[in-house]
Amino acid sequence: MRIQGLLHRLVLVTAFISGSIIICHFAMALAGGAPSVVRAAARSDVPATSPADRPWMNQSLGAEERANLLIPEMTLDEKIALMHGVNRIKGDAVSGYDVEFPSIGYVGYVPSNKRLGIPALRLADGRAGVGNKAENVTLLPAPIAAASAWDTNLIEEFGRVLGQEQWEKGTNVALGPSIDVVRVPEWGRSFESYGEDPFFNGRMAAAEIKGIQSQGPIADANMYLTMNQESDRFREDSVVDERTMEEIYLPPFEASVRDGHVGTFMCAYVKTNGVYSCENADVLQHMLREQLKFDGWVMSDWGATHSTVDCANNGLDQQMPDDVYFGVALKKAVDAGQVSSATIDEHVRRILVPMFRQGLFDKEQPGNWKTNVRDPKHDQFSRMVSEQGTILLKNEQSILPLPTTASIAVIGEAGHAKPKVEGGGSSAVIAPYVVSPFDGIRKRVEAGTNVTYADGSDLGAAAKTAAAAQIAIVVVHTDETEGSDRPNLHLPGNQDQMISAVAQANKHVIVVLDTGGPVLMPWADNVAGIIEAWYPGQEDGNSLAAILYGDFNPSAKLPLTFPRSGDAIPTASKEQWPGVGGRSIYSEKLNVGYRWYDATNTEPLFPFGFGLSYTTFRVGHFALDQQTISSGALESGAKLQVTVDVTNTGKRAGAEVVQVYIGHPAANGEPPHRLGAFGKIELQPGETKPVTVSVDATAIRIFNTDRHGWEIPIGTYEILAGTSSRDLPLKGAITIQ
Ligand code: BGC
Repeated sequence: MRIQGLLHRLVLVTAFISGSIIICHFAMALAGGAPSVVRAAARSDVPATSPADRPWMNQSLGAEERANLLIPEMTLDEKIALMHGVNRIKGDAVSGYDVEFPSIGYVGYVPSNKRLGIPALRLADGRAGVGNKAENVTLLPAPIAAASAWDTNLIEEFGRVLGQEQWEKGTNVALGPSIDVVRVPEWGRSFESYGEDPFFNGRMAAAEIKGIQSQGPIADANMYLTMNQESDRFREDSVVDERTMEEIYLPPFEASVRDGHVGTFMCAYVKTNGVYSCENADVLQHMLREQLKFDGWVMSDWGATHSTVDCANNGLDQQMPDDVYFGVALKKAVDAGQVSSATIDEHVRRILVPMFRQGLFDKEQPGNWKTNVRDPKHDQFSRMVSEQGTILLKNEQSILPLPTTASIAVIGEAGHAKPKVEGGGSSAVIAPYVVSPFDGIRKRVEAGTNVTYADGSDLGAAAKTAAAAQIAIVVVHTDETEGSDRPNLHLPGNQDQMISAVAQANKHVIVVLDTGGPVLMPWADNVAGIIEAWYPGQEDGNSLAAILYGDFNPSAKLPLTFPRSGDAIPTASKEQWPGVGGRSIYSEKLNVGYRWYDATNTEPLFPFGFGLSYTTFRVGHFALDQQTISSGALESGAKLQVTVDVTNTGKRAGAEVVQVYIGHPAANGEPPHRLGAFGKIELQPGETKPVTVSVDATAIRIFNTDRHGWEIPIGTYEILAGTSSRDLPLKGAITIQ
């Protein structure tokens, strides 16, 4: 009691002190000294009130403490108002909140509470730029392209650019990144994700979240959990065993909490093992809260809330975008004793803690939805990401890089008539401009060099145009979008025929793929070059020209496998995808992505981790810093250091990605090997440098379903290193005791 009384007094004193600081800043501001405070005072959603009345405004207190000071001051209506978005038309039915839904923009909105100074939440989509039809923003390449650089610094910067534009648009909750593992190659949202490896996705997710949150907004990683297909997505039941869930689908979310300190997650449309994600106690309470110790909030995907009592009691903190279940209905459920006030307080605490932690109560936010947030540096960055993320898959007889004097025929709709620079759905962005491949190439060739174009709708005309040029560049695309999976992995329309027709007319064909995931390439042997440029963003043609003419030496690697045929994939049966009777059975278990190709000895077209360069590299001198290590040491944070020397054996400067994979003892029941670490290095011609990467417990551990916990079984593990999942010439072993 005494301690509590003391604490209370301390809080008041601190509040008073910070109050006088604010008043004195205010006086300075009037004299022209601190304009930011004047702007803060002019904010419409947080009125100036004596800070002594609001001890939770004391910035020297921790987020948790501040939330705990605020919650007892809130009425039930005010708490419930924080637990849902407001509907544009109806407004908020329950609370005394000031409903001021902006007439434009944000896809989600929680009004401010003026009485208590709780700022409004303004939510906007953004995976490759600010979405929801925002204007004057930067269109970045799709996240799958950014991830292909295998560079966590790049993806962190990607998050910073995105976060900055969101913040300047007035957004304080940025809906992204999408971090689910790509299980089904036809998945309509694979372009939004980072690829098929859980460890890799976790590294990328944490880095991007850090980048976004460093600029102001709270990041919202989605979609939690087992959201791996679009087919039947509002009802589909993902049937997954415990070990697979823990080892394959949970790790990106775990890394988002542990390393990314993410503020919110979005629960998914689908069911996981029979229960909708947003009311699934196993997924929300057990895994997210107890196991991952996540202390932020979970909001529902738009329309993914299906109940009041179950959602509220099983872990959903906030319904989006409206109040159908978490408005009047929730209040009734509390009044009826079906949801306790302690549960409500807990939900509110989880929302408030990241808001305090991220400084939303303390910072002024510049700009609004109409602000022009473009920046020439972001245009440059968009181009750079596209260059860094473009993968050279085939380069027969070093046809690339091209001489700038060779005449070029650009073929295909995406080559000029309709550049395919982004995926569809909620991540769609209004590009400020798009440089088509044709325009990018035309700008880059020597003056007087012929560059012609045919859109490919007429195969005869396409072949004729190709025949008249020295080099034919065929740009093909897929139309991937949230809401539907691709029916199969073929290029849509007549594009396969178009490539074949062009390949018959010209021996020097380079195919450029603008896709968000893998496609089949029945023509692969008949073309000289293949480039995966993904959905490259607004700088499409400029970044492609930089690759084609060698201004940038490609160094990206596939973050997912390209199969040889539509049957030779991990999810080939209907039971697995799109599911039968509303259920998709994850019967491939741990064999997701390359794990399946390795486990079943299936030759992919291009393996996970693969990508060429205009130079060549040699790896050697493999060294482990220890031969034995105890599982206990690993569990308490010890790491295994793996060093590999990389030599640039070619004639150009370039970058290589060293990949380290772990091969488990057979008794562990793991696929042949799984990615455990990676590191990228730039080398001048002839230069050799060591790359040291560290492997930690999370890259080795397996999930024990008897004990329902992680373990690192003793035994001898193979450590493999190389430059793709199927090119691992270096081997060593570590004994875990
Ligand atoms: C998507 C989310 C998105 C939300 C709001 C949903 O359809 O699944 O990723 O954030 O819409 O636009």
